[in-house]
Amino acid sequence: MRLKLRIWRQAGPTAAGRLEDYRADDVSPDMSFLEMLDVINEGLIRKGQDAIAFDSDCREGICGMCSLVVDGVPHGPDRGTTVCQLHMRRFKDGDTITVEPWRAKAFPVIKDLTVDRTSFDRIIAAGGYVSVNCGGAPDGNTIPIAKDVVESAMDSAACIGCGACVAACKNASAHLFMSAKIAHLVLLPQGQVERTRRVVNMIRQADADGFGSCSNEGECEAVCPKEIPISNIARMTREYVTAMLVR
Ligand code: SF4
Ligand code: FES
Repeated sequence: MRLKLRIWRQAGPTAAGRLEDYRADDVSPDMSFLEMLDVINEGLIRKGQDAIAFDSDCREGICGMCSLVVDGVPHGPDRGTTVCQLHMRRFKDGDTITVEPWRAKAFPVIKDLTVDRTSFDRIIAAGGYVSVNCGGAPDGNTIPIAKDVVESAMDSAACIGCGACVAACKNASAHLFMSAKIAHLVLLPQGQVERTRRVVNMIRQADADGFGSCSNEGECEAVCPKEIPISNIARMTREYVTAMLVR
């Protein structure tokens, strides 16, 4: 395939950015989207030009590092898929593809397509540790937890912290991300000790970092590569209201 790409270039956090045009020839349908960007970068490096900066690590959909908005959609057109798992067979010969970074006040651009997501780390740190007030670590199999509860907690723990939910939200809200972290701990016995403190501290930290509120439009759920359900946000709100009442 031959493709035209419009890619966001920005030299640094305070520099002005712009979309620049690139051509990609001989693109195999079997390439991943990031491999296609690697090929463009090899061409730029051969010409002595600055390579396009973008984040990636595992390239198998589990680390949450890749963070590209493809044609206006965080992680691109495939549902439940990270952009590192998006393949070029999804596009047609002659297509023009626009690639931009996550856009949110709390995720400032570092360079080109890379953004600073340490605000997510601060939310996780605000959530704190899990206390286990006992002697030796108990065997996991001796703590009775119903299978449907375990599965629900595990589904929430699938969040990879990529930030696509924030990038898709017009309020740049981190509610889906936080609600996944809250749900996966609050459903389990191990998450009970800090239950009230955790939710209050995480929401306070998100406010301090400039994330917005949730207006229940569901864009976050639609782009989440791990298909975290928006119902978790209702659970988090219940946890927050209860925490404020009992504190
Ligand atoms: S909730 Fe989904 S979109 Fe948001 S950080 Fe977690 S995995 Fe990414
Ligand atoms: S590079 Fe790890 S999830 Fe995409």
